[in-house]
Amino acid sequence: MKPMKYLPVFLLLTACTQAPKKDRLIMTKPFGNFESQAVTEYTLINQQGMELSVINYGGAVTRLLVPDKNGEQGDVVAGFDSLAGYLQKGNPYFGALIGRYGNRIDKAGFTLDDHPYQLDANDHGNSLHGGNKGYDKVYWQITKLPGDSSLKLTYKSKDGEGGYPGNLDIEVMYTLGSDNSWRIDYKATTDKPTPVNLTQHAYFNLSAGSEPTILNHNLQIDAEKYTPVDSLLIPIGRVDGVTAALDFRNAKPVGRDIAQVAGGYDHNWVLNKHDASLRKVAILSHAASGRGMEVWTTEPGLQFYSGNFLDGTLSHTKNGKPYIQHAALCLEAQHFPDSPNQPSFPGTILRPGQVYTQTTIYKFINIQ
Ligand code: GLA
Repeated sequence: MKPMKYLPVFLLLTACTQAPKKDRLIMTKPFGNFESQAVTEYTLINQQGMELSVINYGGAVTRLLVPDKNGEQGDVVAGFDSLAGYLQKGNPYFGALIGRYGNRIDKAGFTLDDHPYQLDANDHGNSLHGGNKGYDKVYWQITKLPGDSSLKLTYKSKDGEGGYPGNLDIEVMYTLGSDNSWRIDYKATTDKPTPVNLTQHAYFNLSAGSEPTILNHNLQIDAEKYTPVDSLLIPIGRVDGVTAALDFRNAKPVGRDIAQVAGGYDHNWVLNKHDASLRKVAILSHAASGRGMEVWTTEPGLQFYSGNFLDGTLSHTKNGKPYIQHAALCLEAQHFPDSPNQPSFPGTILRPGQVYTQTTIYKFINIQ
């Protein structure tokens, strides 16, 4: 036996067995170019082997590896295999940061301090997710933070961008905890009064590819009320008790009552116990894999969107899998849609000298 013959195999094995021993790690990989700037994919890895990958474009989370009940890692977020996928027309905000205002603003306008503002109308005459070029379509600067478990993403949104007043300085921290949590801390300041409602648009399917839809996932939401909407998904101004189909106070399969909801779930739940402190508001689980996900947030609302507009037509999808209707779902912690036009909803106006903050955590647990 010639020892040299086995040396490369030995080295490879050593490398493989040594990698997970490192407590925390950040890896980087080139991911193309956007507006003459290099896009990099950063990957945070914790000691359990959980991985979170993020790109500069949209601050999008491209990959989230989470262990199942047997410790097998699986990717639980929808995404694309290349930047071309993220840049394609009709990318439904996969994994992206959303702003300046998450969800819809009626007739793409609002009045603030007696001044009317006109926004980009990009959704049937209304403004959705910041307009034509929301924060999902901009380049975020990313900095690795000491400790190797956090990335800082920053973006300076110009006065007038999308029609919104004021220069907004935004800082978002993504932290991968050793307890398998993905924590998102948002911070923003402005030089003119402006509405701000930032959120994250990750699409989850906890089966990690073994089930084509999320209809078998169980969901529990700690909310007795929701904001009813019109046919264009604009709140009609009321806060009502949840209907039977929208009642997720006790966990139930997403698919159980979905046929009773025109178009599928795409509503804002009014979360219980809102006092801006961080509390657990929802649990998503998938029995077959044993994966569960708790949602913790400081926000008053949770937009649960059941992937209704996915129709299998997106290209550059990961592993070439079609994202069919309900392939994945979003749990977007936020203020209520159209708050700038709804005086009875919790306020979303940030003024100079104030600091906008919001924290949301997606914490992965073993449910078996
Ligand atoms: C949000 C909205 C949905 C839809 C998706 C993206 O969740 O509430 O209506 O626009 O984003 O397709």
